[in-house]
Order: sequence, then C-alpha cells, then structure tokens
Amino acid sequence: MAEFTLPKNSVVGKGRHFPAPGATRMRTFKVYRWSPDNGENPHTDTYEIDLDKCGPMVLDALIKIKNEIDPTLTFRRSCREGICGSCAMNIDGTNTLACTKAIDDCRGKEVPIYPLPHMEVVKDLVPDLTHFYAQYASIRPWLRTESPAPSRERLQSPEDRKKLDGLYECILCACCSTSCPSYWWNGERYLGPAVLLQAYRWIVDSRDEDTGARLDDLEDPFKLYRCHTIMNCARTCPKGLNPAKAIAEIKKLMLARRV
Ligand code: SF4
Ligand code: F3S
Ligand code: FES
Repeated sequence: MAEFTLPKNSVVGKGRHFPAPGATRMRTFKVYRWSPDNGENPHTDTYEIDLDKCGPMVLDALIKIKNEIDPTLTFRRSCREGICGSCAMNIDGTNTLACTKAIDDCRGKEVPIYPLPHMEVVKDLVPDLTHFYAQYASIRPWLRTESPAPSRERLQSPEDRKKLDGLYECILCACCSTSCPSYWWNGERYLGPAVLLQAYRWIVDSRDEDTGARLDDLEDPFKLYRCHTIMNCARTCPKGLNPAKAIAEIKKLMLARRV
C-alpha cells in the first residue's frame, strides 16, 4: 500500500484550546492556523463558542472568535450574504461560503475549518488566488464585438437572455476549482471549472461576436480537456451552479465545429 508522508514543515500540529466556561449551548470549531511570519508549522486551534451568544452562520462564529477571543485569526469576508465570494473556505469537509453555511448544518460536534484546498496559503484561512484570477483574466471576460456600437444598449431576446441563467450567478468564489482533483494536479495549465464556466458564459452570450476565437483559445489538451467529469465542482458550488455542464457544452461546441 502506498504511504504518503508530508514534508516536515507541512505537518499540522495541535494548537491552543480556548474554552467557553458556562456556555449553555456549546459548539467547538477547529480552525487551521498558519502564519508566514514565525517560521512555525501550521496547527489547528480549538475554539469553544456558546451558540446562544452567536449568530447562526459559521462566519458569525469566526467573527465572534476574532472580535472576542483571538484577534490574530485571519480570514476574508465582505458581503455576509453569499454575493462577494470572499469567505470561501473548507468547512466540515466541504468547500463552501462561511456566510451562508449554517452552524446547525455542520455534522460533527467539532467543526473543522480549513482554507480552500490545494492553494498556497497567505495566512490562516486566506488562500492565494493570484493564479486563479490570472486564469480568469486570460479568457478576457468581457463582451467582444466588431459591429459598430448601437446608439443604445445591445439588445438580447428573452430566449437568448435565458441561456445565461445558471452562469451569470457565479460569484468566482473558487469553491469548485479547488474541489477538482484535475485542478489540484494540473492547475498551472488546466483552467478549472470556475474559469471554464465563465468562458462558456461569454461563448453563449448572443451579443458576443468573438465565439470562434474564444473556442480557439480553449482548444488545448490542458486548458479544457483536463476535465474528466469528476463532478466535485457541481456538488460543492454554494450557488447551486453546474460548472461540469458548462464544460460539457463547450466540448460539444468544439466537436460541432469539427464536423
Ligand atoms: Fe463559486 Fe459556483 Fe462560481 Fe464555482 S461556479 S466559482 S463554486 S459560484
Ligand atoms: Fe473537475 Fe468538475 Fe471536471 S470536478 S474534472 S471540473 S466535472
Ligand atoms: Fe461575501 Fe461570504 S462574505 S460571500
């Protein structure tokens, strides 16, 4: 049987324990910690929270920890309503948004919280998304047209507008890409489900006039074809989107233009 060992400086150690004496409804959060400043290995700190004094979402618990227990805890958040995508992390074993994940929906008594998997960590729960955003920029995600601009907006029929449903809602949280094993192993060259869903969003936009070039750009053994239909992306998307379907649609278009 294969045996995997982590490099010494990656072994996650046991950290501090912050009890909640007198809690009436206690829940424990086990949170990944790593700082680039002290040369130490990562560790997990354990925080006990009294749910009777905390909001209902995992993000409420993290904010409570930061405000009242341990101000050194670092994480991203902004909108608190599932729109900005910045609080994406791995909670209770699944990539999701801390602000829309209810504490009551976490399974164990102890809730593990880690940064999005397989990304470089900036600090604690903050992943480095530089490469992810560069890949997004590489698909040139804006309306590309050649025809002269009309005096008002470029119109779209209700049927054509409907084709963007299930695509425009993507908030680029990266939950899907960081759950995809193909992206883990080939993330340097494979664009991953989030960026491919975005690519398809522009390919099917009836107002866009650069479909051929968009497909040409994706005609590559790695950028598109490293999707092996593993489906983690669709299972994990906190907005209920299906990047795997968008990828399949791009592959169909590739095939259609060959015949
Ligand atoms: Fe996040 Fe879903 Fe968009 Fe992926 S498809 S980036 S999981 S919103
Ligand atoms: Fe990955 Fe989703 Fe394809 S998990 S392999 S992008 S179906
Ligand atoms: Fe904006 Fe969670 S804080 S999506």
